[in-house]
Amino acid sequence: MNSVEGNSKTSYAILIIDDEDTVRKICDYVLVKAGHVVYTAESGFQGLEILRTTENIDIVVTDLKMPNMDGQSVLQQVKRDWPHVEVIMMTGYATVEYAIDAMKAGAADFILKPLSTDQIRVAIKKCIERIELNKEISTLRLANKKLVELKEIKEKFLAITSHELRTPVGHIKGYFNILNDDFVDEMSDAEIAECKNIIRNAIQDLEELLTSMFDVVRFRQNRIVLQVEEVNLAALLQQVQSGFKLALHERQLTLEIDNVSNGIVIIADRLKLKAMLTELIKNAIKFTENEGHISVRVATDKRYCHIHVKDTGIGIPHAEQGKIFDPFYEVQHSDYHSSHDTNFKGGGLGIGLTLVKEIVLAHQGEIKVESHVGEGSVFAVSLPHEQKGDEM
Ligand SMILES: Nc1ncnc2c1ncn2[C@@H]1O[C@H](COP(=O)(O)OP(=O)(O)O)[C@@H](O)[C@H]1O
Ligand SMILES: [Mg+2]
Repeated sequence: MNSVEGNSKTSYAILIIDDEDTVRKICDYVLVKAGHVVYTAESGFQGLEILRTTENIDIVVTDLKMPNMDGQSVLQQVKRDWPHVEVIMMTGYATVEYAIDAMKAGAADFILKPLSTDQIRVAIKKCIERIELNKEISTLRLANKKLVELKEIKEKFLAITSHELRTPVGHIKGYFNILNDDFVDEMSDAEIAECKNIIRNAIQDLEELLTSMFDVVRFRQNRIVLQVEEVNLAALLQQVQSGFKLALHERQLTLEIDNVSNGIVIIADRLKLKAMLTELIKNAIKFTENEGHISVRVATDKRYCHIHVKDTGIGIPHAEQGKIFDPFYEVQHSDYHSSHDTNFKGGGLGIGLTLVKEIVLAHQGEIKVESHVGEGSVFAVSLPHEQKGDEM
């Protein structure tokens, strides 16, 4: 039969449970000849023991009437503990009720005794088809799930980028028109300079957007190549902090950097680390109301350097915390974006944390988030002091 993956196997592991020696022998003979691996057990208990110790059994063929543990109990336990294993029931007491009960409890089929070799062959063949079909169904389900996810990412990408790109493009268009207008002669030098400045900023915003979009695509396609060097953490943090001086002032936010970072030197990619800290602090600024507080704490242990970026902002609902690292994922709707990316709930593409995570992973580090709505968030990054296997 056709398979989605085209690699269905030809040999299956089959367990025969029957207290009658002859039945076990016939089954063993027929199924080994058909190329399968056969295990036999003379009681339900022994059969379950084989299932426990042999991990890859595909099909169980069990007698219904056996002393101590009957076929129904075997069926129930198999379906409970190994739900993917198919069970075929053998019975000499063929009544419709028995068959219905067995099928209701999850049996794939039943065979009537006395056994004929053909019956066994056909039942096993049908059962294998069922196994392969189930495999195909789950492969298709998985493929479908991936497609749905991709579609969601694409929609988010379009919603966010069209929103984020429209603002700077609108500024460039609008202010360019003003400068091109006949009335430009009546404008003061200061007014003209301001128009030019707005256009320059909008171009810069566009450039930044393009760079981050490009980075996400590039990082996702191939692992990041690190250019490692000795990085003085305190100096780097100060550099990042000074980039936000104006935004912090405008938003009346305080940013406190732990002086433990003094003297800590780690082997890392300085520019990528800077980009990582910039994104985390930018988020802390963006998602904290005016007059809030942001702190960066550093701690070290034998292997790792731990950096905690904490804010007193809006926090992230627990259910969203796993998704915020996905590309283009934003908790709030993009319509709520105010323009600038350091304004409260300001703009963004939803890829900052995706980049942060890629950078942390490339450094063989870890990132965790702890956050409570209305109280604030802590992003905890742990980076090894040195990079294994990287030449400096
Ligand atoms: N410090 C934070 N406080 C509250 N929410 C945050 C914080 N950092 C990130 N988030 C949430 O995670 C989302 C994804 O963050 P990010 O990938 O940096 O994208 P962006 O900043 O462009 O929205 C944000 O849109 C926001 O909803
Ligand atoms: Mg961000």
